[in-house]
Formats: sequence, structure tokens, C-alpha cells
Amino acid sequence: MKERIEQLNKQLKGKSPEDALKFFLNEYKDKIALSSSLSIEDQVLTDLIVKIDKSARIFTLDTGRLFPETYSLIDKTNIRYDIKIEVLFPDYKEVEKLVKAEGINLFYAGIEQRKTCCRIRKLNPLKRAFEGLEVWICGLRREQSVTRQNMQHVEWDESNGLIKLNPLIDFTEQQAWDYIKKKSVPYNKLHDKGFPSIGCQPCTRAVVPGEDIRAGRWWWENPEQKECGLHKR
Ligand code: ADX
Ligand code: SF4
Repeated sequence: MKERIEQLNKQLKGKSPEDALKFFLNEYKDKIALSSSLSIEDQVLTDLIVKIDKSARIFTLDTGRLFPETYSLIDKTNIRYDIKIEVLFPDYKEVEKLVKAEGINLFYAGIEQRKTCCRIRKLNPLKRAFEGLEVWICGLRREQSVTRQNMQHVEWDESNGLIKLNPLIDFTEQQAWDYIKKKSVPYNKLHDKGFPSIGCQPCTRAVVPGEDIRAGRWWWENPEQKECGLHKR
């Protein structure tokens, strides 16, 4: 698989996100999906993907703790593109057990509790979404954080046994916004209120000008720890 990944990275070198998506969607057909958090990156990818193949699979993980603005954006995006973003929920038994043992807002108690919550509300549903898949498309950009600087265009996701495609890996935040504005792509209204990166409501706050774009995510933790486990390396 290592050779295949190297070959794909070579093949895609210098190619636009659109060309990379065209190639992958054609090559992997019903074995490829975009996991969308409705971020600006994922909205750019949705716009590109729908224009290439309207029936391509797009799913989102509803942790049960998202912002109302994010739910509105799911609807808005579905209407705009005439698609149905697949919404995956966590297992209610797991959530009930966790909340009973650790409390409703356990994530503030420590990194272990926070990771357990992310595992039950995001990772386990993600595993279900992966059934039958060979490639997952993500909106990661290198510039986003210290934890993402060495990520590649195409990677082998060992823990999930999948190829991971990051078409916007070299994009800057400005490039994503330019695309959104130029094509009038719907976006999360929280971005206009000081939220550059948006996850679950209790784990996301606004940032002040000059602060890092991910400073508002799990703001009580160290920057090196700020990954929910979706993007293990
Ligand atoms: S996180 O690890 O900090 O939560 P981030 O919000 O930067 O991730 O999103 C990075 C990529 O992970 C997104 O572009 C998307 O592909 C995937 N992702 C994150 N959250 C979700 C979600 N709730 N549903 C689906 N995909 C998600
Ligand atoms: Fe739980 Fe926060 Fe992780 Fe969402 S981001 S799953 S609320 S710990």
C-alpha cells in the first residue's frame, strides 16, 4: 500500500483540488465519501464534488452537541445542491452510559474524559460510516495547526485501513474564503461572529483577532493535544 500511496501522491502533484477529486471519484466510484463537518473547507469540497458527481456520498457526524447554526447549514446545503447529506448519530446506549458515569459536560474534567466523549460521539459513528469504503475525503489543511504540518495530499490511514484524500492540503484559509465568496457557497454564520474553526458547541469558542484559528477549539488543552482522534497519525 505504501507504494500505491507514493504513486498517487506523485500522480496528483501540482493538480488542482478539482482534478484530484475528478480522478478519485472516477477511480473509486461508490467506495469513496466526503466526511463533512460543514467547515469552509468541507463546503468548498462539497461544491466541487457535487459538480463532478451529484450522487457522491457526503456524510456528517452529528455528535448531538453541535451549534444550531451548524444544523441550519446542513439544511441550507441540502437545499442549495439538491442533495441529502447523510447524518450519523452516536449509539444512544453508549452516550447514556457515559453521561451517567461522568456527567453531561465531562469533557472539561480532563483530556481522558474529553477523548472518551469524542470517541463515543464521533469516532464510533465514523467507523460505521466507513463500512464498504476505500477512500475518505477530508478538508484538512497543513496550515491549520501544528498537528497537521506534515500531512500529505494522499495518506494511508492505518487505523481505519483506508486511503485518506486531503484535496485542500495546500490551501490557505484565504483561498477557501475566496472560493466560498466567488461561488456563493453557503457557510456557517458563526464564521461572521469570530469563530474561524467550528466543532461541538461546548468545545468551541470565538477567538479574538490575532489568535490562532484553532485557539477556540478545546481551548483549555495544549495545542499538541487538540485532535479529536479522527485524524491520528
Ligand atoms: S477536528 O479533529 O478538529 O474535529 P476539524 O474540525 O479540523 O477536525 O475537521 C477536519 C476534517 O475532519 C473535516 O474537514 C472533516 O473531513 C472531518 N470532520 C471533522 N468533524 C467532522 C464531523 N462532525 N463530521 C464529519 N466529518 C468531520
Ligand atoms: Fe464531546 Fe467536545 Fe468531542 Fe464534541 S468535541 S465529541 S462535545 S468532547
